[in-house]
Amino acid sequence: MKILGIETSCDETSVSIVEDGINVLSNITATSLDFHKKYNGVIPEIACRHHIEIINYVLRDALKKAGLLVKDIDVIAVTKGPGLVGALLVGISLAKALSFSLNKPLVGVNHVHAHLYSSMMSAENLEFPSVGLVVSGGHTNLYCVDSPSDMRLIGYTRDDACGEAFDKVAKILELGFPGGPIIEELASKGVPEKIKFPRSFLEKNSFDFSFSGIKTAVLYYTRDVKNNGEQVPVNDVCAEFQEAVFEMLLTKTRSACIEKKAKQIFCGGGVIANKALRRKIDLMAEKLLIKSYFPCPGMSTDNAAMIAGLAFHLYKRGIISRLSLSPEPRVLI
Ligand code: KG4
Ligand code: ZN
Repeated sequence: MKILGIETSCDETSVSIVEDGINVLSNITATSLDFHKKYNGVIPEIACRHHIEIINYVLRDALKKAGLLVKDIDVIAVTKGPGLVGALLVGISLAKALSFSLNKPLVGVNHVHAHLYSSMMSAENLEFPSVGLVVSGGHTNLYCVDSPSDMRLIGYTRDDACGEAFDKVAKILELGFPGGPIIEELASKGVPEKIKFPRSFLEKNSFDFSFSGIKTAVLYYTRDVKNNGEQVPVNDVCAEFQEAVFEMLLTKTRSACIEKKAKQIFCGGGVIANKALRRKIDLMAEKLLIKSYFPCPGMSTDNAAMIAGLAFHLYKRGIISRLSLSPEPRVLI
């Protein structure tokens, strides 16, 4: 079964065709990231306009790369949320138009669940129950996973998302946007123990996260160093910030794996592109005698292959959307 997926929840415009939930025939992504850089964050209006301008070309290229015509597609899948409402609307409008004109079923997909599914696409076999960790610019969620189409939210951030903390700390240190990749690079040149930032673990029996404290700690530390007329040791700040954030992520993920008797751990979202984080998760999983899975290269950040892939499992369970499908900008499940 060939599913055409559309992703427009934030600044990436992506169209992909995936066969049977696993075989990626094409995955074309355009981004408006460069237009947002000078504002240190994604500007919704710019992202929406860019989607409108480019989406038909991205669709054309995805079909061409897969060597298919629209009539060869069996199901149309689209990100229904969470995301920027105007941006979601562009993808949903295209998906509805295709579904209606081709008379093919429409499947609305949760973007965060799809991030998690992207790592299932790289697993040789799936075992359940498992634990899922999604760490992106908008979400930091822990799931108990019973099947690709059955993900139960067991923990989430009470304030900033993990990627958001990376972006805000990069802004404090005047490193540019997005913060994740640059902080990862500078952290590799620094020594974490030279500075000590606080870790927040909330209640022991909770799988929730909190990253606003560490961000504020970096802000105050940087301000104090500057006020003393000294130079901020940027590499060491990045190293300690990253170390603290990963310790918080891993402590809760480890507890979830033990409590839920996880057989595997699936990870997704933009922050999972971080190699130091992947190494730490691998090590943790090894100690727990379970396997850890990450998205294939290029599939950590937003893409439509994960949408088309997950839609296959939803469709098989009979989860189909109506043409009245609306954006769900703030779903939290
Ligand atoms: O999943 P994503 O592409 O978009 C959302 O759905 O949010 O994630 C983007 C986030 C940004 O906050 C970015 O700073 C972070 O992922 N990120 C990273 C890395 N690459 C991207 N964070 C840490 N290390 C990285 N290498
Ligand atoms: Zn995302």
